Amino acid sequence: MKKILSYFWPFTKRFSSEINGTLEVTYINGKKVLDTENANYSYGSLQKILEFGLTKVDLKNVENLLLLGMGGGSIIHSLRNTFEYAENIVAVEIDPAVINLANKEFGITPSKKLQIIEEDAFQFVKNSNQKFQLIIIDLFIDTKVPPIFYGKEFSRNIDQITQSGGDIIFNVGFNFEKDNSAVQEITIHFGKNYNFRKFEKVNHTNTLLLCRKG
Ligand SMILES: C[S@@+](CC[C@H](N)C(=O)[O-])C[C@H]1O[C@@H](n2cnc3c(N)ncnc32)[C@H](O)[C@@H]1O
Repeated sequence: MKKILSYFWPFTKRFSSEINGTLEVTYINGKKVLDTENANYSYGSLQKILEFGLTKVDLKNVENLLLLGMGGGSIIHSLRNTFEYAENIVAVEIDPAVINLANKEFGITPSKKLQIIEEDAFQFVKNSNQKFQLIIIDLFIDTKVPPIFYGKEFSRNIDQITQSGGDIIFNVGFNFEKDNSAVQEITIHFGKNYNFRKFEKVNHTNTLLLCRKG
């Protein structure tokens, strides 16, 4: 019933988070989405942007995938249902309120092939000794990527845990076609061992950077 009504009257539940401010779960056109005050986080445009990135990589050789910024887990849903990826996923999320909503509102729960880790992605990457064939970087607080994730130390640490021949899908943020400095910074930090492909205005908004380790 709620689903049918949502086609006529979208309705929103609001939750407060110390890290992300107001989190909104909206039932609209028969579908639930997770938003912050100014941005879609999951099951809306952000999911489409990451799905575009996934069409550019070969998932056949991926056995261990790292998702930095789990949000409501929409790309986990796409990986399992649209891309038929059945191997391991490690999802890192700093905000316990978001992890709780992912579970209660979107059915994202840990399993043998899905480890959900409540931690700062910067610290996780620094301390991890696993190797990943694909890393998805989707770290936002509302509309902004925290600047530490454009920095040298983060790129070096990501490099340490990326397997040779592996891919990184980096959601760099909004409206970068005029100011390219964040993309330039990242490519310099990753260095010559990587091939880069940049996609602008993905789903009309975001810049995605695809980095393949040589
Ligand atoms: C756009 S949402 C991620 C959406 C998600 N990838 C999906 O598929 O639904 C961005 C997420 O990054 C998380 N985040 C921001 N800073 C973080 C950090 N330092 N460490 C881990 N997660 C962080 C936010 O709490 C938020 O849930």
